[in-house]
Amino acid sequence: MIRLRRILRPVHRWTGLSVGLVIVLMALTGAALVLRKQLELPLDRDLLSAPACASRLPLDTLTANAQKAYPSGKLDYIRLIAAEADDARTPTAMVRFTDQMFVYLDPCTGAVLGLRNRYRGAFGVLEQLHRFRFMPNGNLVVGTSAIVFALVLVGGGLVLWWPGTWRGARRALALRAPRAGGAARHIGLHKSVGPYAALIVLISALTGLPQSFDWYRNGVYTLTGSAPPAHAPASLAHAPDAARLPMEAIWQKVQALVPQPREALLHYPSRADDAVDIYTIDRDAPHPNARSLIALDAYTGDTLKFTPYAASSAGHKLYFWTLSIHTGLVGGWIGQALLLFGALCVPLLAWTGLRSWLRRAERDPARLPRQVRVVRKATEAANVCTFELADPDGTALPAFAAGAHIDVQARDGLVRQYSLCNDPRETHRYLIGVLRTADSRGGSRALHDEVGEGDLLRIGEPRNHFPLAHAAEHSLLLAAGIGITPILCMAERLANTGAEFRLHYWARSRTHAAFVERIERAAFADRAQFHFSEGPAEQRGDLESLLAHPAAGTHLYVCGPTRFMDAALAAAQRAGWREENVHREYFSADLRHAADDAEFVVKLASSGKSYTVGKNTSALDVLAAHGIVLPRSCEQGVCGSCLTGVLDGSPDHRDRVLSAEERARNDRFTPCCSRAKSPLLVLDL
Ligand code: FES
Repeated sequence: MIRLRRILRPVHRWTGLSVGLVIVLMALTGAALVLRKQLELPLDRDLLSAPACASRLPLDTLTANAQKAYPSGKLDYIRLIAAEADDARTPTAMVRFTDQMFVYLDPCTGAVLGLRNRYRGAFGVLEQLHRFRFMPNGNLVVGTSAIVFALVLVGGGLVLWWPGTWRGARRALALRAPRAGGAARHIGLHKSVGPYAALIVLISALTGLPQSFDWYRNGVYTLTGSAPPAHAPASLAHAPDAARLPMEAIWQKVQALVPQPREALLHYPSRADDAVDIYTIDRDAPHPNARSLIALDAYTGDTLKFTPYAASSAGHKLYFWTLSIHTGLVGGWIGQALLLFGALCVPLLAWTGLRSWLRRAERDPARLPRQVRVVRKATEAANVCTFELADPDGTALPAFAAGAHIDVQARDGLVRQYSLCNDPRETHRYLIGVLRTADSRGGSRALHDEVGEGDLLRIGEPRNHFPLAHAAEHSLLLAAGIGITPILCMAERLANTGAEFRLHYWARSRTHAAFVERIERAAFADRAQFHFSEGPAEQRGDLESLLAHPAAGTHLYVCGPTRFMDAALAAAQRAGWREENVHREYFSADLRHAADDAEFVVKLASSGKSYTVGKNTSALDVLAAHGIVLPRSCEQGVCGSCLTGVLDGSPDHRDRVLSAEERARNDRFTPCCSRAKSPLLVLDL
């Protein structure tokens, strides 16, 4: 079963993405056509009905008027529908020509009420779209799509949905309120609605197939042991100069066989020895397509064949039942409502399936959405390179705010985050600074050694876990090493807005400090202070004294290596800074393990599947081992790539991304490093 599902899942997904559009068009037009019975007459009242009268004109007069209105047409048939006893209006008589042109006539006066092609008018167009009659071999497209839909999307979808036991199936079928958001809402809705809609849409697809394929229609007869439909027998031998009976005389003969039918359709013989081929539908027929078949000699009116519906073959009955079921003419308003529900579920299923796939694709680190070119690579300081990135076509890049970072695919499968350090008002470029570290896990080394000017890189949209608090009265910006990148951007933004701030920048030496000249040339140079650890003691800076006087309106921003971060944040805590006034961004962190780390269970909200996370492994790795691949980058809880929604349970937050307030909400966690305080976490996946 697991192997089958592994094969079925991509087949189901890619079939939906490819054939889905045809299916959705068929479903939407089908949904509208289900209401044809109620809506068509009011919409086309003057064409489809006329004032009632005691007696209609002879069929031959009506036919002659139709032919006069459409002289180039070759007669195909005339259809009569009986009026209801107390109706003030009567259905019009309809003469069809072989090129699908219909002429509508007032049966009482013979007046031509209008001409219309079968595929014109609101419902004609809908039918044309539904049956793909706007293209050659449209019936094959429709029929093939319906088969693929039934087998792969409905059948395969049910296999993928099947929870394994009847008890599980009952639980899965229980209707629940939609979740607040995220991927689980889409896939959850897909899986909740799918089984309910499956039976209806399957019936709808299978009952529509006889319209597309003769082999399927013949199969219906073969399956029931019935003879396939035969052509009407020929008229009996007649003298060469004999004249056919008028159609009105034929009608009288029909009446003798089927008195007062609800509907009758009489074909005009196309060849000299053809019989008149007729079908009628009784007033008490079990469904609106329960056809009795009649063939009359065109010259004598003798009955050549008469098969009342009740006496017809099982194949004939099954075929016409499928026609009525497919068009919503069975089961009254309940049948129509079910069919409408099934048809409308199809676009919903297509949408929820597509959204969950897109969401997954968005989260796939290998699919960063934007391609940029490295237009400039420069050495900024010892071991620090800047990369200026621009759209290859010169298109403006998405706006960002100070403190934002982007994902950069350094090479296949290697995604790292880098803060943007150019002016946020610029849209023609992004500037990132990359420190080549001795303990590089591959990202900075790949960018330094393998990427040059002119190369193309894939990047993500800007994200910001380190935004400025714009209501601050004063800002204190502390950066160390490559931590200057977001802090420099913040300083420039604050300077541009005329805000109060001070910048302190620690580095080993001037040659190890990035952006020194830019800072010294900046309008805020007098508010920036360098601290070089290899320089004189008096300029090295003292965190304790710098942070000694917190004020309610002052916000602190800290970014740099872990040791610096820990020291600055500890000093701030000792000095009594309010947590909400302290903002931080880590570039790396040590994974924090506790001696009493215990295993816990993560459960996926969408599938209900549970996985145990052992003491020495991460939830991210456990999920990946079961094919649920989440974005990952730092795997240290500092980049936020793997942030995942939590719907139930209590996470043990060990990341450096979430603020205290965000942690308290317990609605997200970083599965790369965080664990659980409760035995179970239900994830929004
Ligand atoms: S991978 Fe970076 S926070 Fe989890």
